[in-house]
Amino acid sequence: MAGGDGTTTTLRRAFAVAPALARGLGLTLALAVAGTALQVVVPVTVQQIIDTELLASGGVDTTGVLMRGGVALAAVVLAAFARRTSLARLARSAATGLSDLRVTVFDHLHRLSALHVQGERRGALVARVTSDIETMQAFMEWGGVGLILGTAQVLLAMAVMVIYRWQLAVVVFVGVVIYAVMLIWFQRILRAAHDRVRRRVADSMAAIGEATSGLATVRAFGMEQATLAKVRGRLEDQFRAEYSTAALGAALFSSAEVFSGVLTAGVVAVGIGYGPAWGMSAGVLVAFLFLVNLLVEPVQMLVETVNQAQSAGAGLRKVLGVLDVAIDVPDPLDGDELPDGALDLSVVDVRFRYGDGPEVLHGVTVDIPAGRRVAVVGETGSGKTTFAKLLTRLMDPTSGSILVGGRPIETVRFASLRSRVAYVPQEGFLFAGTVADNVRYGRPEATDDEIAGAFALLDLGGWIDTLPVGIHTEVGERGSNLSAGERQLVALARAAIADPDLLVLDEATSAVDPALEVGLRNAIERLSDGRTSVTIAHRLSTAEAADEVLVFADGRLVERGPHGELVVAGGVYAALYRDWEGATSTGSRSRRGDLRP
Ligand SMILES: Nc1ncnc2c1ncn2[C@@H]1O[C@H](COP(=O)(O)OP(=O)(O)OP(=O)(O)O)[C@@H](O)[C@H]1O
Ligand SMILES: [Mg+2]
Repeated sequence: MAGGDGTTTTLRRAFAVAPALARGLGLTLALAVAGTALQVVVPVTVQQIIDTELLASGGVDTTGVLMRGGVALAAVVLAAFARRTSLARLARSAATGLSDLRVTVFDHLHRLSALHVQGERRGALVARVTSDIETMQAFMEWGGVGLILGTAQVLLAMAVMVIYRWQLAVVVFVGVVIYAVMLIWFQRILRAAHDRVRRRVADSMAAIGEATSGLATVRAFGMEQATLAKVRGRLEDQFRAEYSTAALGAALFSSAEVFSGVLTAGVVAVGIGYGPAWGMSAGVLVAFLFLVNLLVEPVQMLVETVNQAQSAGAGLRKVLGVLDVAIDVPDPLDGDELPDGALDLSVVDVRFRYGDGPEVLHGVTVDIPAGRRVAVVGETGSGKTTFAKLLTRLMDPTSGSILVGGRPIETVRFASLRSRVAYVPQEGFLFAGTVADNVRYGRPEATDDEIAGAFALLDLGGWIDTLPVGIHTEVGERGSNLSAGERQLVALARAAIADPDLLVLDEATSAVDPALEVGLRNAIERLSDGRTSVTIAHRLSTAEAADEVLVFADGRLVERGPHGELVVAGGVYAALYRDWEGATSTGSRSRRGDLRP
């Protein structure tokens, strides 16, 4: 919350992005302050009862005592009600507002291109946003109001003390300042200890995670003992850190308790010693004890909350920062529709770099007529997948232009582009659910019959029959129940049901068994039949079947032509082909059918 100006700007933006945060905030704060103010009624009533009723010269006035007691009781009930209502209102607006903020931020994340939200980075970004918003929620639900209530309580108690007897008030203030400084110091020590615990927990989680996910490798190499020793060592470190932190916390906490006891005792001693000289009544001294309590109680919370406020503020700034990342592949809302029928492609001098990394495509120019089947081949890292992502506008080129059906690709509305152009990625992503659920991503309204039909069309009916319950078989988390090749079969059916006019397909690189290999090859052939298709081929058979082969090397298109011609030409492709043949004749099964050298 430091830096007044920045805080106001941040808060104003947060309220603009998530208006629910600010809704009814005035009343919530008013209730909170009223609830706090009413608490002062008790010490004041106690003082008055003692001084004007109990110690009155005419004896105890019972009615007066009862009346004042009644007022104090009403004040306490009202105070509790006001504070409770204010907390509930705050929790509600924090939950609603932060949920709005979450939706807005994730929506924005979704619209960032593949470039910004890729693999690791996307995971890290999502984790960051999630934990930042959680920090804010924790703060807003009680810390925020605690800060206001605590401050109000401290100020009010101080004011009443000064009014009663400023000399004794000065004694209390000095004590409270020492107490606060002590707490801040304790907290710094504790925070360092907690950080150490967090690091140890992360270490042991990493060791356990590695041991679990690498179980097969661990077993295969007989490394069980060493792995276990490593995990045990990390867990022991974690235990030691946790134990010493808990012990430290307990020691600091009890010394804070001791101090507040000492402060109360000090007030009593000073009050009794100097009270008569200062003209203090017994009622005022007792009221002071109540007030010291009102003052000390929120100090500990305030010190904690200020810290929390700082991390909540930092979290809020980071989350709003995500919203500032411009959407780099925007949907042209007043854009064009693609023309009907098969789509042609025209790529002119396209260059691309990831972020501020090196250029990975260096001026690719190629025309692909409508209806042609094109295979793209090249060594690993030559830029094939990058090219495919540009053709489907998952990213925009750094320079150069891409025309689809004669329209510049960036002027085509997403609705039209996504319904006519299908992309089958190298590592097809499957969502937890059934095979049918996953195919339906291609066309949400597709019926079970249509889905079965899509598999039949790709000649995959036989494969579906081998699954326990056909298209209703669960694929598991990320499709883990299926092999990589099978996952791509589902991805192909997903593209088939979308019935695109341009198909961009990145063949799976993973080695698959020979039967599946045939299935995949057939399915790809059938899927690309009758449409413009650009298939990134990792298998010779796919390249052989294409009308034309584009050969990429180091981010450049270096050769193009039908398979037969390129083999005879004796260039890069011919070399790739020879390698493949060599691999086959030496009988290396793992390299069979793999075009890469
Ligand atoms: N997200 C990314 N960020 C930065 N650089 C990337 C990214 N993705 C790919 N690259 C780089 O771009 C270049 C081309 O990669 P690309 O994935 O297009 O190759 P590829 O031809 O598809 O390779 P493979 O045959 O292994 O699939 C490589 O140098 C790669 O390191
Ligand atoms: Mg690739």
